[in-house]
Amino acid sequence: MTSPYLDVPLIDLAKMNSPIQQLLRGKAVEVLDSYQYIGGAYVRSFEEKMAELIGCRHAIGVSSGTDALLASLMALGIGPGDEVITTPFTFFATAGCIARLGATPRFVDIEKDTFNLDATQLEQAITTHTKAIIPVHLFGQMCDMKAINTIAAAHHIPVIEDAAQSVLARRDELQAGNAGDVGCFSFFPTKNLGGAGDGGLITCNDDDLAHKIRLVCKHGAHPKYVHQIVGANFRLDALQAALLEVKLEMLPQWTSQRQQNAAAYDSLLSHLVQTPQNAHESVHVYHHYCIRLEQRDRIQKELKARGISSAVYYPKPLHLQECFAHLGYTPGDLPVAENTCQQILAIPVWPGLSSSQITHVTDSIKELL
Ligand SMILES: Cc1ncc(COP(=O)(O)O)c(C=O)c1O
Repeated sequence: MTSPYLDVPLIDLAKMNSPIQQLLRGKAVEVLDSYQYIGGAYVRSFEEKMAELIGCRHAIGVSSGTDALLASLMALGIGPGDEVITTPFTFFATAGCIARLGATPRFVDIEKDTFNLDATQLEQAITTHTKAIIPVHLFGQMCDMKAINTIAAAHHIPVIEDAAQSVLARRDELQAGNAGDVGCFSFFPTKNLGGAGDGGLITCNDDDLAHKIRLVCKHGAHPKYVHQIVGANFRLDALQAALLEVKLEMLPQWTSQRQQNAAAYDSLLSHLVQTPQNAHESVHVYHHYCIRLEQRDRIQKELKARGISSAVYYPKPLHLQECFAHLGYTPGDLPVAENTCQQILAIPVWPGLSSSQITHVTDSIKELL
C-alpha cells in the first residue's frame, strides 16, 4: 500500500546532485583516464581553492575528518600522559582520536542553547597536562572562539577546531577552520561539502606546523624513504579532490538554501519547541537543524510513520561511553550534554527540500506535540 504522506528523507543526495551529476561523471572519467590517482594536480588545485575559501595559508587534503583530527594531534606531538579538552556532545571521532594516541580526553559540558562547548567552564578544566583544546563547531554553528582563544593563549595551549560540520560558518568575524591554530574538516558524503567517499582537510596558517602535518600524512618521510617521524597514510585521493572541486561551486548556493529552510522552520516552529539558537554575530550553516522535544522518541516514531525521516545526534554523550569508563565519569557529571542527548532531534534541512515538504514536517510536529 502506498503511503498517503509526502516522503521527506533526511537528505536526498540524488536530488541535490542532479544539476551537476553530468559534470561529476565527466570529472570522474577524466581522473580515471589521467592515471594520476595519488597527489598531483587535482589535489593541489582543490587544496588551493579551499585555502582561499577558508582564508588561510595552508590547506592539506587528507583521507577523512577523523584523520584530519588524528594527524593534527600527531603533528602537535600529543601522546601518553597528555590531556586534551573537548566536548562530550560530538561525533565519536573527536574524542576517539585523542584516546588512540594514548592521551586522555577531558570533557567540558556544553551550552544549552547552542549545543557547543561552554567556554565559561573551560578554564577550570585546564591542568598542567593539558596539551590541546578541541572545540567542535556543532551542527553548523561556531563555538565562542574569541573566549576559547583568549583562555588557550593565556595557558599557551593550541586550539584544534573540529569544523567537520561547519564549512563556511562564521562568528565574530572569524571563519570556521581559520579561528584556531588548526582546522579540521570532513567531506563525508552527507556533509555540507561531501565527496563520493571519505575525505577531509586540515587548515592552518603556521608554515612549520603545515610542514609537520604534511610530513605526518606521508609516513613522516622527507625526502622519500627518509623517515624523520612516524606518520601514516592520510592522503586525500585525487578522485575525491577533483569531485569535491566540482561540488565546491555549489556550496554557497547550497548553504543559503539550508539557511532559508532553517528560517522557514524558525518561523513555523520557534513558538512551539526550542529551535536552534543563533549566538550573537554568528552565521549558522545548518549542517543539521536540531530541535528539543520532551517526548522525542515518540515524536520521532510518529514522524517516521508519516514519511518524515529524522535522526538523533547524539543519543549518548561521550563521557558515558563504555570505552571511556576508565576515565571515571558518572551520570550527572555533565548534565547539559546528558539532558540534550534525551531531547535532541535533527529534522531534514538539506538544500532542495521543497516548501510542501517543510510544511509537512512542521504541520506534523505541531499535531504530534
Ligand atoms: C564533529 C565531527 N568530527 C569528526 C568527524 C569525522 O569525520 P569523518 O567521518 O570524515 O571521518 C565527523 C563526521 O561525522 C563529525 O561530525
